[in-house]
Amino acid sequence: FLVDKANYRHFMAKEIHEQPEVVGHTLRRYVDMAAERIALPQRLPFDFNDIGRISITGSGSSSYAGYVAKYWFERLARVPVELDVASEFRFREAPLRKGDLAIFISQSGETADTLAALRYVKAQGLHTLSVVNVPTSAIARESETMLQTLAGPQIGVASTRAFTCQLMVLAALAVAAGKSRGELSDSDETRLVQRLIEIPRLMATALATEPQIEKLARDMAKCRNVVYLGRGTSFPLALEGALKLKEISYVHAEGYAAGELKHGPIALIDETMPVVVIAPYDGVFEKTVSNMQEVAARGGNIILMTDAKGAREATIDPLVTILLPDMPATFTPMVYDIPMQLLAYHTAVVMGTNVDQPRNLAKAVTVE
Ligand code: G6P
Repeated sequence: FLVDKANYRHFMAKEIHEQPEVVGHTLRRYVDMAAERIALPQRLPFDFNDIGRISITGSGSSSYAGYVAKYWFERLARVPVELDVASEFRFREAPLRKGDLAIFISQSGETADTLAALRYVKAQGLHTLSVVNVPTSAIARESETMLQTLAGPQIGVASTRAFTCQLMVLAALAVAAGKSRGELSDSDETRLVQRLIEIPRLMATALATEPQIEKLARDMAKCRNVVYLGRGTSFPLALEGALKLKEISYVHAEGYAAGELKHGPIALIDETMPVVVIAPYDGVFEKTVSNMQEVAARGGNIILMTDAKGAREATIDPLVTILLPDMPATFTPMVYDIPMQLLAYHTAVVMGTNVDQPRNLAKAVTVE
């Protein structure tokens, strides 16, 4: 990778646009493309059948990648997953079982909270596996197994392609776990791997929403608050979308599970409030539609991220619909994250903030 901005205005824009390529590299490291099978680059030092529970830990965007993965491991491999932000994990004194698996997710591999959590877990005799972008980092070196994301150097402080590459590695690992535990058949594995192979192309299609999002960002930049909603794997994505917007544009944003809307955030909704709804046409789509109706009834401006079927079935009139490619439900977060990144990026550009180096933030946080 050449570390320059090429023809892009910011590193962040370049990093967003390079995702189909780097997620594709990462895919090829974990999948046998010809056989349509998961092919991890190394043998795991544990058997997924012996794992009673997986703990997943990370900070910032990396913790949200872990949150998405929780849904995948539980659904595809039927293994219970606990998810913590690294700064909380050690101190809540969770009962841990020797021989279980703990996964640590970190772009830099140097985040102090995550490293401390890794050391804590290791001392208790758990298997440790890290998903890191920098293979020479402390977290990579100190974990029993290291699975690398091939995102290339992440220069922009806000994680973009590191996040989607983390999702790709975790998706492959969840399918591998499902297979070992007998929850997935050979044909399930093939079907899921075929879906993973499609992801880079679908991400490229999602990038084509950019002109529409650029326009939307001009209105977004006038807002003081934004709510992001999603259900299922789109819920952690709502958290990530809101984080991205606030960290680089300084527009206040909150992500919620769509079903939680009625338990508080609904009080915020009025004509001035944009509500970004992440709703691919999946098993929970209908439920999200009722939440959108609640928003619409209070005059909230809905920005709906969905596919053609979802746009047809939404039964509300969104302010804007961002149309994403049709795809099977499981791995939508890798594709739906693209418009979220673009929205944050273009809003920040309109606001005139320092996109690649937002105030008060650091690329790797090496203090606890
Ligand atoms: C910082 C960065 C975030 C990143 C987080 C975790 O806060 O600004 O973009 O998600 O650290 O970093 P890591 O390197 O552990 O993924």
